[in-house]
Amino acid sequence: MAETLHLEATDKAGKYRELIPQLEALVSGESDAIANLSNVVAALKQTFGFFWVGVYIVKENELVLGPFQGPIACTRIRMGKGVCGTSWERKATILVPDVDQFPGHIACSSASRSEIVVPVMNATGEVIMVIDVDSDRLNDFDTTDQQYLEQVAQLISTFYHA
Ligand code: SME
Repeated sequence: MAETLHLEATDKAGKYRELIPQLEALVSGESDAIANLSNVVAALKQTFGFFWVGVYIVKENELVLGPFQGPIACTRIRMGKGVCGTSWERKATILVPDVDQFPGHIACSSASRSEIVVPVMNATGEVIMVIDVDSDRLNDFDTTDQQYLEQVAQLISTFYHA
């Protein structure tokens, strides 16, 4: 297993393009899903310096906090609640440029200003977890993050089986 990430790009899309094959290599030699989720989240934090990045995993019809990097967070979210529960319900990525404008946003941290949530689907199209990334700056995520975080979601679906 590679122990360091090699990133030369200075732009966001370039960093994602360099990171994703390294994530694939990172998880390929390990069969434990929690170990792999932990490294995926840590690699995203290390590459982009996100304020908060982690996953919420569907367990008994709730989203339950999984591996993350950042300040402590709420542990359980119901379907349709907050950005995470809404992404789960809609089976779609949600970009939130200003969390104060998102009805029902769950403020785990008052410092959070913008957010992106990407669902991870299994082979039958059910949501098995969501990837949540928070920023302490307004409007910090765009369709570049969406495009590549959806690829990360696809990678997670190859090793996490609900
Ligand atoms: N803001 C999220 C809750 C999770 S925390 O941001 C880590 C939401 O509204 O679903």
